[in-house]
Amino acid sequence: MTIETSTPVINDVRQELHLTTPIPGPMSIELQKRRVDAVSAGVGATLPIFVTKAAGGIVVDVDGNSLIDMGSGIAVTSVGNSATEVVERVIAQVQNFTHTCFMVTQYEGYVEVCEALNRLTPGQHAKRSALFNTGAEAVENAVKVARAYTQRQAVVVFEHAYHGRTNLTMGMTAKVMPYKHSFGPFAPEIYRMPLSYPAHDGLSGAEAAAIAISRMDKEIGAENIAAIVIEPIAGEGGFIVPALGFLPALVKYANDAKAVFIADEVQTGFCRTGNWFASEHEGIVPDLIVTAKGIAGGLPLAGVTGRAEIMDSVHAGGLGGTYGGNPLSCAAALGSIATMEKENLIAKALHIESVMVPRLTEIADESGVIADVRGRGAMIAVEIVNHATRKPDSALTGAIAKYCHAHGVIVLTAGTYGNVLRFLPPLVISDDLLNQALDIIAAGFAELAHSDH
Ligand SMILES: Cc1ncc(COP(=O)(O)O)c(C=O)c1O
Repeated sequence: MTIETSTPVINDVRQELHLTTPIPGPMSIELQKRRVDAVSAGVGATLPIFVTKAAGGIVVDVDGNSLIDMGSGIAVTSVGNSATEVVERVIAQVQNFTHTCFMVTQYEGYVEVCEALNRLTPGQHAKRSALFNTGAEAVENAVKVARAYTQRQAVVVFEHAYHGRTNLTMGMTAKVMPYKHSFGPFAPEIYRMPLSYPAHDGLSGAEAAAIAISRMDKEIGAENIAAIVIEPIAGEGGFIVPALGFLPALVKYANDAKAVFIADEVQTGFCRTGNWFASEHEGIVPDLIVTAKGIAGGLPLAGVTGRAEIMDSVHAGGLGGTYGGNPLSCAAALGSIATMEKENLIAKALHIESVMVPRLTEIADESGVIADVRGRGAMIAVEIVNHATRKPDSALTGAIAKYCHAHGVIVLTAGTYGNVLRFLPPLVISDDLLNQALDIIAAGFAELAHSDH
């Protein structure tokens, strides 16, 4: 007799947590030895496992363990790993041609992705886009465009910011360890302003913005500012949602100063926060918007989209790169965007928030070590403090993350103080997997919150 089961299967992967060995298993341990001998020690890894297959909300490793994915490869596989339409379009494209370089002989996919970006990003004005490979590369290009347009140099960034690991973006990123330590000197003309961090500063958006604005006036001078660059929700910095009013005040300041307001939506974009872009939650319209990660379902692609007069102010040949907007990545992006539209992944992100936030709030009440539950859509985090001192507790955060990993849930940490546990599940994750992940997270807090871990 066969037993009927309703467990969904995506791309031959059962959407079910299943551990056959301890994490890591023997095959992963073997590969880890080769990795240590072959791969630079400078490249980190959150889990010491090696993957053979992944689909939907499950990642399968070489030992046959199926883990629940609460990280999406850092906010990338929002449509789920190996999503059908992404895979089909990439296969079709790879059979036709793999590369021509858009700057040499052009192809329609690049234009179609730019059209989609122009259509989906906030604002009804005329827009243009340009495509790149990584978030950092796109941030750099947004700054290049802003400088060319304004003929000014100063770039304003914020505390807790993360914009990438290239030289310019390292300078724009706030946290020194591990991103900047020993890699300087960094580019000049970068000015860091205080970010609205409601759980820490207790200020309203208007109050926090007034402080940043007064500092910009005094320390830089509005007339020298080329760009104000900000993540609408600080990602690596700890999923910090600025107090309402902070972002609109900065947009107004940028407009008045004739500076370019750049939203870095590399992590927050493409349905992740329950809108196409996080800027929409406060109705702000950035002059330029930077996208990457979730745009292409796992293939490397990034974009800068913005006002036509700004994007077109650059001399011909000033933007580009050999692989920017590679045809495979464009095909993947078109599959990814079609999936988001057809499956209404904006609604799915909001649903994930409605499941996660009440449950995490319960865990906060029970454990007494969560100072803040925050985020939007499927970009949710908890900030962890010591139960006695109420100070950020990175050791406990690390211990809970390890507990989750050992029990088959891939979670990530973040935050300037290393005390944020962040959740970025694929938007297609089933409720069963989501609830099971939350059960394991709850058990981790119950076991470790008051222990010596
Ligand atoms: C907000 C933000 N900007 C830029 C980047 C850099 O993107 P990439 O790693 O693709 O260079 C990231 C990556 O985490 C990010 O979260």
